[in-house]
Amino acid sequence: MSWIENAVIYQIYPRSFADGGGDGVGDISGIRARLPYLRDLGVDAIWLSPWYTSPMADAGYDVADYRDIDPLFGTLQEGTALIDEAHALGLKVILDIVPNHCSDQHPRFQAALKAGPGSPERDFFWFRDEPANDWTSLFGGPAWTPVPDGQFYLHLFAPEQPDWNWGNPLVRKDFEQTLRFWFDRGVDGFRIDVAEALVKVLDTPGGYRNQEGVHEIYRSWRNVADSYPDKRVFVGEVWDPDFTRFLRHDELHTVFNFAFLSCPWDATLMREVIANTLDTHKKVGAPPTWVLSNHDVVRHVTRYGRTDTGHYWIPELYGSDADLTLGIRRARAAALLALSLPGCAYVYQGEELGLPQVENIPVELLQDPRWVRSGGTDRGRDGSRVPLPWSGQAPPFGFSPDDIAPWLPQPQSWAGLTAEVQATDPASMLTLYRSALKLRPGWEGEVSWMEMDDEVIAFRRDELMCLVNFGNEPVAVPEGAGIVLATEPISETLPTDAAVWLRPPS
Ligand code: NOJ
Repeated sequence: MSWIENAVIYQIYPRSFADGGGDGVGDISGIRARLPYLRDLGVDAIWLSPWYTSPMADAGYDVADYRDIDPLFGTLQEGTALIDEAHALGLKVILDIVPNHCSDQHPRFQAALKAGPGSPERDFFWFRDEPANDWTSLFGGPAWTPVPDGQFYLHLFAPEQPDWNWGNPLVRKDFEQTLRFWFDRGVDGFRIDVAEALVKVLDTPGGYRNQEGVHEIYRSWRNVADSYPDKRVFVGEVWDPDFTRFLRHDELHTVFNFAFLSCPWDATLMREVIANTLDTHKKVGAPPTWVLSNHDVVRHVTRYGRTDTGHYWIPELYGSDADLTLGIRRARAAALLALSLPGCAYVYQGEELGLPQVENIPVELLQDPRWVRSGGTDRGRDGSRVPLPWSGQAPPFGFSPDDIAPWLPQPQSWAGLTAEVQATDPASMLTLYRSALKLRPGWEGEVSWMEMDDEVIAFRRDELMCLVNFGNEPVAVPEGAGIVLATEPISETLPTDAAVWLRPPS
């Protein structure tokens, strides 16, 4: 059994985790200094959003050199030291690989621009004499941008992120070398950015989603991973509902569960998503994953505090009323739910502190390309990327040295949410996560649903009973069951928007 089958993986967004260098931006030295925090939290692995050399047009998801680290974050030597130190603390390390596109500053794209139409250099990308279709960029605006000689190139994201042509065998070879480069340095796995989009069929609407050719790429990646004695792993960013095709035994090990992340706070819908997830993964023999937030979506404390608790990309929801007290209660319950299900769970940095989305960042400070690309209508994802509050009473809350302003402003209200304050508060979100992660390795076996009120999700896994009350009324806790961990103070009944782990009655 691979370690990823029941791991808890903590996502680090390097620019917002901890600033060791004192320039307002998080970096590798900051992460290294905080590794003991992650060990004490009880996670099994870290996934680092991209740290590669990049002009940062999309916060590092525009890579100019896949085999080096951007000076903003540190050096290659520091990166390898981080990997070794994480391993010494028992933490696995997953890097983020971005194979759909690179940066327009990548030497191969620069060479393509110079070499001109029809050249082998241009064949690394999608150059055409005119836009080959009407695809739009996922960040807004057209997906084709002209270059000075009149040709256009394809970019599913920002114009600074030209898409690789995976039909070119040299692209494949190059990426396999990159995988080996990092595997040789001890990296345990990769999170694959936009994993479903690598292969394009230009004359088909949506012809970049889950095309058959993409699976062959991952088969050869799997061969690379399996060529290491302690087999390395992949997790794919796949939004396509037909994700199981990526989970064949010779392709990716896991994909993110975006159905769970997107599910509204509703017992029936949640039960359905969980049952489907378990069922579809069982059929292909792959471990399910449980994800509530990441650096692209509204933090779930805010999402669960809104009237509409589903996940939406729609910018109109920006700043819509959120009851954060309610959001926190539900986020606590969601944590126990996610951490008691079989498979692999993700924790997005700051989720363990119960951070909400920050929705009042002054527009002149926004850095997400979605803001500019949407003509100032979509404020983008910066609100989920605000630097973490570690300690102290005022910004920068120990993220940076006291006199340095972090790259995005932190709300003063985060004084009550610092890791320092929460570490000693038995009722805090941090304490809940620490307790849950300590207990989690004890849960084994398959989920068997318990018959209870429709508004309650209730299941057993051998020695664990998990109950989550989505309804408006308290529900009775099964008689004789022992309380192991609860999100709210409980005795005989479980209040609304609360969860409990129980030891079954003997
Ligand atoms: C998904 C990443 O998570 C997101 O942050 C990025 O902007 C796009 N892929 C493009 O790389």
